Amino acid sequence: MVKLVKIFINGFGNIGRRLATYLDLDKEIDLIGIAKYNTDVRAKEAISKGYNIYIPKNLKKSFEDKKIQYAGYIEDGVRQSDLIIDAAKEGLGYENKQKIYLPMDKKAIFQGGEKREGKFSVADMIHNSRVNYDKAKLKHYVIQGSCNVSGMGRIIEPLIENFGDSISRFDVTLIRRWADLEDSKEVKDSIEWDAHPHHQDDVKDFLPKVNLYVEAFKVPSRMMHVHQMLIRFKNRVTSKDKILEIFQKEFGVAILKSSQGTAEVRKKAMDLGFIHGDTNMVHIHENLLRIQDDTLKLVYSDDQTGMVIPENHLLIQSMVSQKTRSEALQHTDLLFDMTKRKAILQDAFK
Ligand SMILES: NC(=O)c1ccc[n+]([C@@H]2O[C@H](COP(=O)([O-])OP(=O)(O)OC[C@H]3O[C@@H](n4cnc5c(N)ncnc54)[C@H](OP(=O)(O)O)[C@@H]3O)[C@@H](O)[C@H]2O)c1
Repeated sequence: MVKLVKIFINGFGNIGRRLATYLDLDKEIDLIGIAKYNTDVRAKEAISKGYNIYIPKNLKKSFEDKKIQYAGYIEDGVRQSDLIIDAAKEGLGYENKQKIYLPMDKKAIFQGGEKREGKFSVADMIHNSRVNYDKAKLKHYVIQGSCNVSGMGRIIEPLIENFGDSISRFDVTLIRRWADLEDSKEVKDSIEWDAHPHHQDDVKDFLPKVNLYVEAFKVPSRMMHVHQMLIRFKNRVTSKDKILEIFQKEFGVAILKSSQGTAEVRKKAMDLGFIHGDTNMVHIHENLLRIQDDTLKLVYSDDQTGMVIPENHLLIQSMVSQKTRSEALQHTDLLFDMTKRKAILQDAFK
């Protein structure tokens, strides 16, 4: 009999809600509950799904006035758990760590919006299951890389494994979605850039030797990110078939032949009944894959809301269950149906 891992999810937004759906389905996990800070419709959604809600003590009256049933205060949920997944609004993880997790001596996973360096750093490593799954076994606090960072790790590591020193550099242009589908915030009609995108340093945290240069542009869309990656080799690049063969074997990487845009992929995931309309993958767009002399050009889309959910699930298995990576991948694959859904998606875009 496998011992159940007790998990508390602090935050019930785009990421927290998705994590709750999957962790609740996992027979190896006891989902203690989720934290809610606002008395909005999502509180009722959580109750209707049977989750226990934990709230901040100072908001007791607002929840009671709205007759929203709660199981206790956030500290009560944390106390009962082996590990906390902090899915807080970007930047709030540091305070949660200082005020709650550290005093209670609880392990925690933070999301990609939290700081790795400096005064407000929450952890000394960023996890990418393709690269450093085993390193997280010894840690109490780990950041799960953001969706863009997870996607880059998933593509770069297999290339390094196969071609090593014959690659001289990676140049990546991140074309980032403005907001998520469920966000109420306005999508501004502008293309904006970040002069110092965090993604480059984040990837170098787990791939320190990689010669990587990242530019990031935010575009008015809610439908996934697109990465255009130029990989320069010291000599001529191998064949297109070899590149496709490498990625066909990769967990969470689909190869789509006929896709024309991100909205089409997202809508297909919804039509196919994928949970939350997520693919939880990156999708290499084969019709844009080019080899020119010493340069391989790869374009893939990255399911912003879905990418990090199986990543968090794998990280739990490293930090608490101490499973080997292949055992963990097997379990995550079963829970998320990744292999099966990859085949369905590839067939839909053949
Ligand atoms: N959205 C994405 O595509 C994406 C992808 C990868 C990583 N991430 C990262 O995941 C994290 C969460 O992003 P999100 O998109 O899920 O944000 P979000 O939709 O804005 O949700 C944030 C949640 O934080 C809750 N909250 C408020 N104060 C809190 C506190 N002190 N402690 C804990 N939770 C608190 C909010 O509660 P109420 O619901 O009660 O207001 C809300 O549920 C960020 O670090 C982000 O960078 C996001």
